Amino acid sequence: MPLVTSTEMFKKAYEGGYAIGAFNVNNMEIIQGITEAAKEENAPLILQVSAGARKYASHTYLMKLVEAAEIETGLPIVLHLDHGEDFEICKACIDGGFTSVMIDGSKYPFEENIRLTKQVVDYAHDRGVVVEGELGRLAGIEDNINVSEEDAMFTRPEEVQEFVERTGVDSLAIAIGTSHGAYKFKGEPRLRFDILEEIGKLLPGFPIVLHGASSVVPEFVETINKYGGDMPGAQGVPEEMLRKAASMAVCKINIDSDIRLAMTASIRKHFAENPGDFDPRKYLGPARAAIKELVRHKIVNVLGCNNKA
Ligand code: G3H
Ligand code: 13P
Ligand code: ZN
Repeated sequence: MPLVTSTEMFKKAYEGGYAIGAFNVNNMEIIQGITEAAKEENAPLILQVSAGARKYASHTYLMKLVEAAEIETGLPIVLHLDHGEDFEICKACIDGGFTSVMIDGSKYPFEENIRLTKQVVDYAHDRGVVVEGELGRLAGIEDNINVSEEDAMFTRPEEVQEFVERTGVDSLAIAIGTSHGAYKFKGEPRLRFDILEEIGKLLPGFPIVLHGASSVVPEFVETINKYGGDMPGAQGVPEEMLRKAASMAVCKINIDSDIRLAMTASIRKHFAENPGDFDPRKYLGPARAAIKELVRHKIVNVLGCNNKA
């Protein structure tokens, strides 16, 4: 099966009250770990590439690795650009075989975000590619912002209909309290489900995307800390909150940090126990297996998209 767009996936996910996992990929072992789990669980899949990943591994290598995964699994796979920051990178990915792009105009004022997003949508739709936009800004604990500043960054429900209508985007990333990385909350995790609910009512049937959705799996953080790491206060989105979001309008859940943590925990443990090893297969193999088990857990216990391919 060739790479697909997310249109059908999101329609079924919305109706079925589950979400599709969008996993960030940077190299072969990550792609293999994710796609092997998805194959065994018969799950639809979004593999996403950031500008940093594209720079690290190159467009061609990532494209060919994902094509290989497609051949190996036969699954419906979307290849998506994560956080495209301008028209040029979106165009390069559309021209280069991606089936979905995100144009992240969230840092711009509303009108500029609409102008940029529409420019990408017009180019993408003419070529059969779908587009994710973003309204509202994700914060990081490192931003050190206070509560009222944080409130101002959440997506404003009164803007979503106009944004979607004027841009023609196919899905919308919103800010309801998640953030990127391994330090998401200072105290109790708190997500604004009231905002998500309001947006769901204003845009019935329209797919919403949740960024910054790693759970920062405590077991990985403990292992990293046990074997020489230093991650005090690492905290992610509790799984029950993600399940709740998936049962609402959220159809795409973005996960990167948990993959990094799974891989790092496995490699740290390996070298603590086998300090003399220098064959990369000996540490990358178990790291790939750890990613596979993590992704299987997400698919079955968090996203609910097993057997939906
Ligand atoms: O949202 C950002 C993703 O986690 C990608 O991170 O830009 O370091 O590849 P990156
Ligand atoms: P995490 O850092 O929570 O994994 O979020 C990833 C993400 O949103 C990629 O766009
Ligand atoms: Zn993101």
